[in-house]
Order: sequence, then structure tokens, then C-alpha cells
Amino acid sequence: MDTQSPPHFSITTVNRLDDPSLRAGLEHLLTDAVASGASVGFHAPLDPARNAAFWDDVASAIASGGLRLLVARDGAGRVIGAVQLALSPKQNSPHRADVQKLLVLTDQRGRGVATALMNALYDLARSLGRNLLELDTRAGDFGEPFYSRAGWERAGVLPGHTLEADGSFHDAVMFCRRL
Ligand SMILES: CC(C)(COP(=O)(O)OP(=O)(O)OC[C@H]1O[C@@H](n2cnc3c(N)ncnc32)[C@H](O)[C@@H]1OP(=O)(O)O)[C@@H](O)C(=O)NCCC(=O)NCCS
Repeated sequence: MDTQSPPHFSITTVNRLDDPSLRAGLEHLLTDAVASGASVGFHAPLDPARNAAFWDDVASAIASGGLRLLVARDGAGRVIGAVQLALSPKQNSPHRADVQKLLVLTDQRGRGVATALMNALYDLARSLGRNLLELDTRAGDFGEPFYSRAGWERAGVLPGHTLEADGSFHDAVMFCRRL
């Protein structure tokens, strides 16, 4: 699926990560997000080996059919954002999927890239019969107002959900969205 979005970027579903420039772009995207203080599973500075292992796991999950990856690229082909849809493999939840790792390069934020990625993700989820989406985001982060404004329902707080680099624990907010 390809979705043309505002003129400065396009969004594509990516099925393989073996293109070196794509792979480097994704690794840079994650490094940049972690360095910006985003709570996306890693502590800054992001260890390159952890970064590479993460994208290896993503490639495996895509290959096994449990994950979809949407990538936003600018006119020059540079990766500027991405988001993942993890399909629940459980027999009792064929209607459900988790939204993971919504990331936009720091120098590209505030230009509608995340909004376009999410709209493409909703279309993709619908096409796969997944009409209940779930995610969590660190309490107090920009993600909280971002998802609320985008029409997500707040489903509750997970106390002490994440361990921060300074040894403290931080709450996360669960969100869900029916399509
Ligand atoms: C959250 C994130 C993905 C948003 O990406 P983005 O491309 O800047 O978002 P958009 O440009 O689509 O903006 C969406 C809305 O947020 C607003 N916004 C964007 N950046 C903003 C900022 N720095 N401060 C306040 N509002 C901002 C936009 O005005 C827009 O509001 P609107 O819908 O009312 O018009 C990006 O900040 C990011 O990658 N953060 C780090 C990773 C992260 O926290 N991911 C999400 C949690 S898992």
C-alpha cells in the first residue's frame, strides 16, 4: 500500500529491511528519537548493537507476518518517520493490534508526518480486519496530548511501567482506538 501525503513526503509499507540505506535510515531514526528523550524502550545514548538487534527483530517479525512497518520518506528518499502495527496472534483477538514505535525525526516534527503515518496505519489496520488498536505512552510525554487530540480513548494508567536511565520508575498511559 502506498499513500501519497502532503508533497514533501510519502508513506510506504515496508516488507524487507535489507536495503542498506533504508536500514541505516531506520537506525538513525531510532537513535535520534532516543537522544531526544523519547520513551521508546531504550536509554540514551542508544547502543548501536541494541539498535541493530532491534531492527533485526523487526525484520523477523515482518517476515513471520506478525508485524507491519510503515515508513515516511522525504523527496530525497531519506527516512523521516515510521510506525509499526503488531498484529495479535491470539485466537481470541484477531480484531486487535498494537501500535508501536511512532517516531518522527526531530528536525521533521510538527509538519504532519506522524498524523499522516497514523492515518495510513488506520487504513492498513482496517484492511487487515483489525478494528481495535491499543498503545501505551509515557505519562506526561507529548504522546499523551497527541493521541488524545487524534481521537484515542484513555484506557488507564500503568503505574511504574518504565525504568528510566536515572533508576526511577515512570507511569505509562494506555490508549485504545476503535476503527
Ligand atoms: C510524537 C511524534 C511522533 C509526533 O510527530 P509529528 O510528526 O511532530 O506530529 P504531527 O506533526 O503530525 O503533529 C500532530 C499534532 O501535534 C502538534 N505538535 C507537533 N509537534 C508539537 C510540539 N513540539 N509541541 C506541541 N505540539 C506539537 C501538531 O501541531 C499537531 O496538532 P494538531 O493535530 O492539533 O494539528 C514525535 O514528536 C516523536 O517522534 N516523538 C518521539 C517519539 C514518541 O514520543 N513517540 C510517540 C509515543 S510512543
